[in-house]
Amino acid sequence: MIIIQNGQLVSPSGLTRADLALDGGKIVAIQPHIQPGSGDTVQDASGCYVFPGFIDGHTHLDMDNGVTTTADDFASGTRAAVCGGTTTLVDFATQDKGGTLSEALAAWHKKAEGKSSCNYAFHMAITDWNEAVKAELPALFQQGVTSFKAYMAYDALKVNDAELLDILSALKPLGGILGVHCENGQLVNALQAQQKALGHFSPAAHPVSRPAEVEAEAINRLCYLGKLAGAPVHVVHLSTALGLAEIRAARKNGVTVYAETCPQYLTLDESLYKAPGFEGAKYVMSPPLRTPADVQALRKAVADGEIDTIATDHCSYNFKGQKELGLADFTKIPNGGPGIEHRPMVVYTSMVQSGELALTGFCRLLAEGPAKLFGMYPRKGVLAVGSDADVTIWDPQAKTVITAARQQQNVDYTPYEGFAVTGMPKAVYVGGQLAAQYGQPTGIVAGSYVKR
Ligand code: URP
Ligand code: ZN
Ligand code: ZN
Repeated sequence: MIIIQNGQLVSPSGLTRADLALDGGKIVAIQPHIQPGSGDTVQDASGCYVFPGFIDGHTHLDMDNGVTTTADDFASGTRAAVCGGTTTLVDFATQDKGGTLSEALAAWHKKAEGKSSCNYAFHMAITDWNEAVKAELPALFQQGVTSFKAYMAYDALKVNDAELLDILSALKPLGGILGVHCENGQLVNALQAQQKALGHFSPAAHPVSRPAEVEAEAINRLCYLGKLAGAPVHVVHLSTALGLAEIRAARKNGVTVYAETCPQYLTLDESLYKAPGFEGAKYVMSPPLRTPADVQALRKAVADGEIDTIATDHCSYNFKGQKELGLADFTKIPNGGPGIEHRPMVVYTSMVQSGELALTGFCRLLAEGPAKLFGMYPRKGVLAVGSDADVTIWDPQAKTVITAARQQQNVDYTPYEGFAVTGMPKAVYVGGQLAAQYGQPTGIVAGSYVKR
């Protein structure tokens, strides 16, 4: 058995001083004091917080965007995840146009199996909706996929409004949840063309082509589609105050709307697109970084409990060779950025350390919230007897500086270069196995598929 002693156990309802025993991949005891027996391993958590392992509900690993493949695959991405304290991620298996959902699921299992340092589940991104695909849904649920994604932007991925409504209606009786990339794709295409017609080809044109209205209008439309279908909707990577206002209005209107935001929208802003040379390409992601006022509005929404989960949208491309594909044209820059390793540290330092967000809220947003939303609770997302032994021991005094030179992510930059961190994971257990210590992997590849 592993006995975690002297820590403060964190849950969304409060902190408790207790010891924890892990055995056979499960939490087997939680008591004020657990006496280790001979053969037990003791992990001292004095001065530390003990969290249910963090869950990242939005990652893109080993993803081919049609032109290039993400820099992180499941080996490097999950290794980086555990080093930051994340013990489970939910990656987006993505249907090929003309392909089936079961083919996509099989492909993603192949990418992840035997290589993953943390646990993994899959959302299924539906890009080609038709009756045959609809008929596949029950089989997907039987294989543990209960959450889905649709895109309202990107020509190669998007579905139209009628299809969205039909997907929502089909998922409703099955109890599935649909996460949606909310940007009006037609407007994005038109605004991108407008920027190019004006001779604007640099990364600075990226946010101009995807203004807040493009996100807010899509959120508004999605919420009405949810209302029509009588189904819940999940807005992924919320980035604007305007979009937040739409979510508030829809909730008032009786629609069940879940909201995810990401560390980049809570800490970085659009001024980065004006960085010298081509540096702004590092921040070309969709939706783009926003104004400082948006950042403040989202931080307040996080603190006030209006956001359900903070995920990364980790979608890493190297600056050299990959982001550079768009040197002459910002629309050719592969969209996305890295963050899988640094989410807990960035959110803890910038929001918990600063006093804006309570530890309980931090636990809800990074562990319990995604576990509940994605059907993993109470197996995950809580420290309870019988739950999986996924545990993150957090040293609130530990300091480091984020730098690409020392990161585990297999990418040549980080958007958080130079960010001074206070608070990092002392030890991370995946299924009761020690996967990382103070940001370094132990080499144990203990992740398994989470069938939901
Ligand atoms: O720019 C981003 N976010 N790329 C990843 C795909 C997506 O839109 O979630
Ligand atoms: Zn998206
Ligand atoms: Zn994404």
